[in-house]
Amino acid sequence: MRDPVPVDRNLALELVRVTEAAALAASRWIGRGDKNAADGAAVDAMRKAFDTIDIEGTVVIGEGEMDEAPMLYIGEKIGNGGPKVDIAVDPLEGTNICATGGPNSIATLAVAEHGGFLHAPDIYMNKIAVGPGLPAGVVDLDASPAENLRELARAKKSDINDLVVCILGRDRHKEIIRACREVGARIMLIPDGDVSGLIAVSQPEAGVDLYLGSGGAPEGVLAAAALRCIGGQMQGRLLYEDETQIARAREMGITDPNKKFSVEEMAKGDVMFAATGVTGGPLLKGVRRGAASAYTHSIIMRSKTGTVRYIEAHHNYALKPAAFVG
Ligand code: FBP
Repeated sequence: MRDPVPVDRNLALELVRVTEAAALAASRWIGRGDKNAADGAAVDAMRKAFDTIDIEGTVVIGEGEMDEAPMLYIGEKIGNGGPKVDIAVDPLEGTNICATGGPNSIATLAVAEHGGFLHAPDIYMNKIAVGPGLPAGVVDLDASPAENLRELARAKKSDINDLVVCILGRDRHKEIIRACREVGARIMLIPDGDVSGLIAVSQPEAGVDLYLGSGGAPEGVLAAAALRCIGGQMQGRLLYEDETQIARAREMGITDPNKKFSVEEMAKGDVMFAATGVTGGPLLKGVRRGAASAYTHSIIMRSKTGTVRYIEAHHNYALKPAAFVG
């Protein structure tokens, strides 16, 4: 049997082309009120861009099941041949944000060695995250917001009043928001886009100390991949609405449906993460389109080395294949 092809570190640099292509395509739809068109354009461009990447990839976090999604569906084989890897994608994370021209929509993907990602069904996940440099277990999904904030304040040698908690603005989070405010913490409510929200805990300039609340499970795995690379703690637990969802999780290999997953359990081994801003936010600037060229701002990171690279690119419409300009 041949030895497996090793995952080349240059792959990380290649992957950014894929998120750039998706972001450029989505950017045509920023603020035009059509989230499906924006998403469709990003999916299409990302799928095409993957054809140029030398991997034997399997989509494990994607646009849905084979019968629901024409492209980038779970199980789809993508790439040009090369090392066997698993792929998690969200061609447009924050479809509403893009459609309304709000902050923080991104095109994103992550790559792991085969078997590296939690195969999360498209259901909700309860999430908690803090940035790097804190004692292991400083916060816990099973502790109350007040307990978590007290422990975090102690570890950061700060006052709870100085801590900012990022939460998706949803009715289901009313109780968490109330509990955080009751002990004096400040809340940063985001309208959508919890991948960016979760990553923000690792970005000092984003001013977020703690992320709390539920959002998509696939988004949770993507954020875990980023936190594996950039540093930070995160826990996630799947939330089920009915027995069918539990059965689906079991089918996808989750033996304990109530398990509390750590970052390492959601994204293990050698992991790479790439994202390109569609609309701007604290993590990434958004796409800017000019008459002759477009500008993109991306981040790529690798768990093996912990290197985080920001890439600014100027895409010349005249010289680039249409697939890469959107
Ligand atoms: P889309 O990009 O699919 O629109 O998801 C946006 C998002 O805000 C995610 O970031 C988040 O995980 C999820 O939706 C939350 O779901 P809901 O809107 O049902 O609360």
